Amino acid sequence: MKALILSGGKGSRLYPLTYTNAKQLIPVANKPVLFRVIEAVREAGITDIGIVIGKDENGRRVQEAVGDGQRWQAQITYIPQEAPLGLAHCVLIAREFLGEERFVMFLGDNVIQGGIGGLIREFEDSDYHCQIVLTPVEEPQHYGVAELNPDQSIKRLVEKPREPRSNLALVGIYMFDPHIHQAVRQIKPSWRGELEITDAIQWLVDQGYRVRPYIHRGWWIDTGKPIDMLAANSKVLEELKPYIAGFVDRDSQVDERVTVEAGAEIINSVVRGPTIIGERTRIVNSYIGPFTSIYHDCLIENAEIEHSLVLEHCRIVNVSTRIADSLIGRHVEVRRSELRPRALKLTLGDNSRLGLI
Ligand code: TTP
Repeated sequence: MKALILSGGKGSRLYPLTYTNAKQLIPVANKPVLFRVIEAVREAGITDIGIVIGKDENGRRVQEAVGDGQRWQAQITYIPQEAPLGLAHCVLIAREFLGEERFVMFLGDNVIQGGIGGLIREFEDSDYHCQIVLTPVEEPQHYGVAELNPDQSIKRLVEKPREPRSNLALVGIYMFDPHIHQAVRQIKPSWRGELEITDAIQWLVDQGYRVRPYIHRGWWIDTGKPIDMLAANSKVLEELKPYIAGFVDRDSQVDERVTVEAGAEIINSVVRGPTIIGERTRIVNSYIGPFTSIYHDCLIENAEIEHSLVLEHCRIVNVSTRIADSLIGRHVEVRRSELRPRALKLTLGDNSRLGLI
């Protein structure tokens, strides 16, 4: 069995962060989402992994961060995609890499609870032509939606339907045998100009191939928007096994759900978990509340932060208003200005969002 991980795309819903970084490289609980996907694939025993990347700077960044896969004892093949032309287009361009093997296709920006190893092995040993993973969601109109027959077989798959016929959304994990290569050559681009994987799977169903729906009951998050990033961060933090490898001084209160990574320092501060403080980050005279991840090499001094994600090399200093529900990119500086006139002094990238009180 092989794996195909999709790590191209624009990531426009995460602008401005994705102007300078691939969304799959944004960390949740201090580990890039893409690394979590690679680990899930490895846990299923798969070592031959193809990664679809954009022919752009973000593609180069993914390649640089992941490397040749040795870190995971895996062999990685990069498959450049000229533009985000759809999930089925990714299968089309990966034809040579995939050969005649069965494979799992995993969206590089999805986070799912629990191992998927069992599910993948089950497919490997089965005679199904395709297996899809479904989960009940509250707003199915934003997803690929499956309508099932009374005997639980698939009746119809529709991408982002205006009037969904069920609440079962397609989770970003698909398993195929080589018949999918025929399917992706048969379909036409959708109204949004993409070759849709749902259309390709529908083609398999229509041709009478066996497509098995599996209903996932744990949580699953597609990290498309900032709010989803925060939700995924919270879910993963809740399941993290905490440890303290850094330094916590005697004047600090750090509860048992806090992870302090190597070289981090907590000085005269209160940190409530589930929370993770990254390598070499310093928390000084501050409060860090639950569901917060501060990545490596940051300084938080005289500040309060909760339910937020702060990426590497940030400095948040002397900020009297508590920061919450925030996604803060790399090398960001937030500090009280001593200069007059007293005013907000901002340098914000394109598409930034600021919530003032
Ligand atoms: P999406 O989230 O559907 O697309 P996107 O990344 O372009 O985001 P946005 O809508 O915010 O602009 O993509 C799901 C995953 O699949 C994501 O990891 C990117 C990847 N992908 C590709 O690799 N190639 C593609 O052609 C598409 C459409 C997505």
